[in-house]
Amino acid sequence: MSRTVIRGGLVVTAAEETPADVLIEDGKVAALAAPGGEWSQGWTADRTIDATGRYVIPGGVDGHTHMEMPFGGTFASDTFETGTRAAAWGGTTTIVDFAVQTVGHALREGLDAWHLKAHGNCAIDYGFHMILSDVNESTLKEMDLLVGEGVTSFKLFMAYPGVFYSDDGQILRAMQRASGNGGLIMMHAENGIAIDVLVEQALAEGRTDPRYHGEVRKALLESEATHRAIQLARVAGAPLYVVHVSAQEAVAELTRARDLGLDVFGETCPQYLFLSTDNLAEPDFEGAKYVCSTPLRPVEHQAALWRGLRTNDLQVVSTDHCPFCFTGQKELGRGDFSKIPNGMPGVEHRMDLLHQAVVDGHISRRRWIEIACATPARMFGLYPRKGTIAPGADADIVVYDPRARQTLSAGTHHMNVDYSAYEGKQITGQVETVLSRGVPVIDQREYTGRAGHGQFLIRDTCQYLG
Ligand code: URP
Ligand code: ZN
Ligand code: ZN
Repeated sequence: MSRTVIRGGLVVTAAEETPADVLIEDGKVAALAAPGGEWSQGWTADRTIDATGRYVIPGGVDGHTHMEMPFGGTFASDTFETGTRAAAWGGTTTIVDFAVQTVGHALREGLDAWHLKAHGNCAIDYGFHMILSDVNESTLKEMDLLVGEGVTSFKLFMAYPGVFYSDDGQILRAMQRASGNGGLIMMHAENGIAIDVLVEQALAEGRTDPRYHGEVRKALLESEATHRAIQLARVAGAPLYVVHVSAQEAVAELTRARDLGLDVFGETCPQYLFLSTDNLAEPDFEGAKYVCSTPLRPVEHQAALWRGLRTNDLQVVSTDHCPFCFTGQKELGRGDFSKIPNGMPGVEHRMDLLHQAVVDGHISRRRWIEIACATPARMFGLYPRKGTIAPGADADIVVYDPRARQTLSAGTHHMNVDYSAYEGKQITGQVETVLSRGVPVIDQREYTGRAGHGQFLIRDTCQYLG
């Protein structure tokens, strides 16, 4: 039996923060005990980690990543190997990535392809959601099978006509199916039909720069779609999780639904909390680095997102990590913003940026762990195996130095992308050591992990209802 003890740290979970020593046996948390007490002094171990002056927190659970995702004629630049390694560097020990169904093909084909991409390549544990690009009788039936295999959530798009788009009838049918099989519908809520009209008009008028990506993808078209998705979910009697919420008007729709007691949930991402349309307007095509959908919003929207996170009208912060290099990939959209691949890098920085939010007073320490670890684990059927530090949980544990200073930069990050969306940003706090099922993946800021250590997670259905 292998045993590790972490001594002297402040254990922070969503529920409490308490000085405690942590005993790990065979990859699981075995016990927590008062530091230096008689009981924990008696623990023998193969390895002791001194966490004096450090936080001992659950590994991050990033419920929204796109490794190797095909988009706009290219592929997201992180593979499962490079992306999960970067995630580990940033204190994330679980990702839930999106397997993609191609129109005209079965869900099974898409899921098998994603298993092949990930199997044997991941440094940390991983699960899959399924993107439904083609809702029909056969794929509706397949949803039931996938739920049985631990792929218990399905993303639908109200945007991207002709690619991922589903119409309202298809959405309603998928929601009805999910209400029967326990699946969770995740919605990309933007009115893509209207957006495509505005894109066409902008390009015809010569408005081709990246900043017009933000102007045509209007906040009202996010909130309208959010409202419609909520009503369709009500009709179907299904819970709803709205991904990458960026507009304050969309947060208002979620708040209204939650005030009615509906099982409607919202996720936002660090890019919407820390970046804005000012970045999209950066000259010399640099704004392309910040093209993602939903788009970055004017800085005023950030207050509504922070408030939503504090009031639990937004429950989760994920990254929507979908990196494309500036050179050769983002550049595909020079002279036509609609051809810039949509997505931004971020899997490595979520835990640090949210710790910075603690330092800045936006959220509490426990709320940091709740929105980044515990709630995503519950939302996606992984709790309490993931997302907390408690006897029986996987020993996915981060020793975090809350006083270390770091500067985010493409020169030092580990994601396979040639720019940082946060170049030069100063952060207080840094990951020191990361355990995945008790195995050191980052050890005193050295990478000690291995591709293939990460295992596929068969997930339960959503544990956050009611
Ligand atoms: O721009 C984004 N968000 N790219 C990834 C795909 C998606 O819609 O989540
Ligand atoms: Zn999306
Ligand atoms: Zn996404």
